[in-house]
Amino acid sequence: MFDVSKNAIILAIESSCDETSAAVVENGRKVLSNVISSQIAIHKRYGGVVPEIASRKHIENIDDVIYEALLQAEISLSDVSAVAVTYGPGLVGALLVGLSYAKAVAFASNKPLIGVHHIEGHICANYIENDDWKPPFICLVVSGGHTHLVYVKDYSEYEILGKTRDDAAGEAYDKVARAIGLPYPGGPEIDKLSKRGNSSAIDFPRVTLDNSSLDFSFSGLKSAVLNYLNKAKMTGGKIFPEDVAASFQQAVVDVLVMKTILACKKFGIKSAAMAGGVSANSFLRKSMREACEKEGITLNVVKPVLCTDNAAMIGSAAYFKYMGGSFDDWDLNAYPSLKLGEKAF
Ligand code: KG4
Ligand code: ZN
Repeated sequence: MFDVSKNAIILAIESSCDETSAAVVENGRKVLSNVISSQIAIHKRYGGVVPEIASRKHIENIDDVIYEALLQAEISLSDVSAVAVTYGPGLVGALLVGLSYAKAVAFASNKPLIGVHHIEGHICANYIENDDWKPPFICLVVSGGHTHLVYVKDYSEYEILGKTRDDAAGEAYDKVARAIGLPYPGGPEIDKLSKRGNSSAIDFPRVTLDNSSLDFSFSGLKSAVLNYLNKAKMTGGKIFPEDVAASFQQAVVDVLVMKTILACKKFGIKSAAMAGGVSANSFLRKSMREACEKEGITLNVVKPVLCTDNAAMIGSAAYFKYMGGSFDDWDLNAYPSLKLGEKAF
């Protein structure tokens, strides 16, 4: 019924958190459009994402975002090969908006539906605009909700080698940022502020668990920063936010880089990549580049706009499912805690 020998044009939708996004992606790697409507300005007032507001804003925005994505790509619905959508993990109300819309569009236009795991999307951002990037590689996934080391064995084939036992890296960035008075989302703010700070001013802990573990833990580091701030306040000590930010960031990045290199060595893989919002961090990108160069590992680094939430990455992931004939039924549901590599049904 669907001719996979033709160029595959995927219309992709992402609405798992606070970005309403739609993209048109050709053959998994070429982005014809990638429209992102961010709700950050609204959620900033509350210091974080308010799920109910996020769902309502997705409903308000999704029509225009999809229309704009088709317009920018200079195609109509009839040119689309399949409709892809994030179905988990994420905020259930937010996911349901994108999923319901995707189902309606696909059903009405008689196109196949492809459900995509949000983290798989982040990983597949590495294929965009890079025809040479192929599995196998080790991928450090660092977003607001996830910190995973993933062995990407093949397209759509993943083994989780390690993950955080408590907070995600992005969560730690956001919480520390809040404690030093920076607005939501804190990651980009700490990135900026750290450039003016001394990263060795405060010796925050590097939690490596044991030396061979590929798991992470950031809650101890977060507590150490909060304790440092409380102690300084109680004793009247002066706080230099730029030094706190830079020292915290150094502690996070040291561990992220060290474990990524360790995973490459353990599995004898000479290719590494990063994915998720925190991989937009300038210091992480620089440190990872230097470490990989030293170890003779090829590192793929994607544009910052493809690191944070966007629909182009969903369109890329969907392409490999499309080629494998992996389509979903109309009863596809949203799964807030969907695990990578698992079908939830
Ligand atoms: O992947 P993402 O956009 O959404 C999730 O799937 O969670 O990641 C959002 C996270 C937030 O915690 C945000 O603070 C962090 O990515 N982030 C950054 C940077 N840009 C976004 N963290 C550090 N440095 C950045 N430049
Ligand atoms: Zn994300």
